[in-house]
Parts: sequence; structure tokens; C-alpha cells
Amino acid sequence: MNGAPVPGTGELIDLRRVVCQLTDLGHQAARAFTIGSGDWPLRGFVVRCGHEVHGYLNRCPHAGHPLDLIPGRFLTHDQHLILCSSHGALFEKSTGLCVAGPCPGRALTRVPLAVRDGLVMLGAGVAPRGAPDVPP
Ligand code: FES
Repeated sequence: MNGAPVPGTGELIDLRRVVCQLTDLGHQAARAFTIGSGDWPLRGFVVRCGHEVHGYLNRCPHAGHPLDLIPGRFLTHDQHLILCSSHGALFEKSTGLCVAGPCPGRALTRVPLAVRDGLVMLGAGVAPRGAPDVPP
């Protein structure tokens, strides 16, 4: 395992499951991540909403495009909503629910996360691999 010891505990953190450091995210920021290898790594993004961090697959439920056709841009200008740059769908940050655009009522696919020792990590049981890019 690619592990790093947790100070004072003797436990190891699996570095292959680390998405980013919590400090990499501003209080309203979002960023993409890719974890895993091979043909279908897990491609997602994390978004901070105050003290909470949420993770989603980087795939729009409308037509299956990555949300950030403008690389790294996941949020509206006021940073209150997640934006799909393809056709303008808007999603709530805390639920992933589409609230405007071409797929109202549908939702982004959540990637469960855990925050541990200042690291944002894949949640327990989340496989570090994605799926073929096919329309939903
Ligand atoms: S693919 Fe996202 S709004 Fe169409």
C-alpha cells in the first residue's frame, strides 16, 4: 500500500485514495480529481460548501459530458451553484440536484468522501475507478 503514517496514531493513510488537501479548497471552491489508472479512472470533482465538502462524478446527467468543458470551472460566477458548461445545467452544491437547465430533477452522481487529518479522501467502499463515458 502507498501509505503515510497518521501522526500520533501509527495508522496508515492510503495515499491512492487522497483527493486533495482540505486547504486546497477555498470555502466555496471546487476542483477536479482523477484517481485510479487504466482506461477508466475515477474522474470527479469536489466542491466545498462552508464546512462541508461534497464529491460528484464529473459527468452531467443531461448528456454525459464532463461539467468543466472549461477546465476547472465547476461553479457559477457567484459560486452558489454547480454549472455544466455544455448546456448550462445548474446543480445544488450540497445535493447535486439539477435546479435549472435541460435536466431538472436529475442529479449528479455522488462520490462519498471522508475528511481525515486535513485530507479529503474517497469514502470507504468507493472503488477508485470510473466507468466508460457513455450517455446516462
Ligand atoms: S451535458 Fe450538461 S447540460 Fe447538457
